[in-house]
Amino acid sequence: TIHPVYTVDELRAQVAAWRAEGDTVALVPTMGALHAGHAALMEAAAKLAQRVIVSIFVNPTQFAPTEDLSRYPRTLEADLDRAEKAGAHLAFVPDAEEMYPKGFATTISLEGPALGLETDFRPTHFAGVATVVAKLLIQTAPDVALFGEKDYQQLQVVIRLGHDLNLPVRIVGVPTVREPDGLALSSRNVYLGTEERAAAPALHRSLQAAARAIIDGADIAAAVAEARESVIAAGFVLDYLEARHAETLAPIASRDEGPIRLLVAARIGATRLIDNIGVSG
Ligand code: PAJ
Repeated sequence: TIHPVYTVDELRAQVAAWRAEGDTVALVPTMGALHAGHAALMEAAAKLAQRVIVSIFVNPTQFAPTEDLSRYPRTLEADLDRAEKAGAHLAFVPDAEEMYPKGFATTISLEGPALGLETDFRPTHFAGVATVVAKLLIQTAPDVALFGEKDYQQLQVVIRLGHDLNLPVRIVGVPTVREPDGLALSSRNVYLGTEERAAAPALHRSLQAAARAIIDGADIAAAVAEARESVIAAGFVLDYLEARHAETLAPIASRDEGPIRLLVAARIGATRLIDNIGVSG
């Protein structure tokens, strides 16, 4: 398996050695429990840079006290194996003290694409994400960093962060990897019981039906209302299902206003799932 480094100093020494050889560097930030979705990011990274770094850090600041931080799946040995097979050259595996030493007092505050959607239900989440992603980008100084469209609002927040802080890195989004029945791969899918797992593809199916209806000329609000009903009928408690502008994530009422993204978050039993798709055609 690839060899993990645990400190920022070791990370920077390895990147400096690669830079001295003239190699380009890609970063794939993760929280571990790696699956085929993460592998797709690393495989895409290996096509864009000579060296691929995967970071594995279950970032405590992006979890609310009521969320699943303590039971979040941790599978480091399998992760290192999967990372190597997907083409990664180095795993950066800091602990919480390395990332947030005593006295840590800086947090990035966000507006724009961070407003609404996830923030209405997880108000401190993106501040934690943006702060840790900024740290990882500054620690690694990659040419390119890759993020999944699975977490579409996160991807837009990170793109905005890169622009706003003039970070010299290209942010690349990678399409969502799904199970054959349409369920988006997620580290949290392991929480699903048998019946919940059987119901879960309703999220993607409902978004697809709404996207098709909008493409066929249906009113956006009507298509969204129908998708909400079908998610609820499948047994979910809906946090939101919205049509938004695909880049700004501002509310959007018509296809003339720009590209549309449909985004959903819903809970089934104790598990919260998110998904999204583009409306194109
Ligand atoms: P995590 O949930 O581990 O996801 C790491 C990366 O993998 C994210 O960019 C996410 O969008 C992507 N990803 C997850 N499931 C995917 C799928 N089915 N298809 C494609 N990509 C997928 O997102 C985080 O970690 C954290 O918030 C992080 C950015 C690492 C900051 O802590």
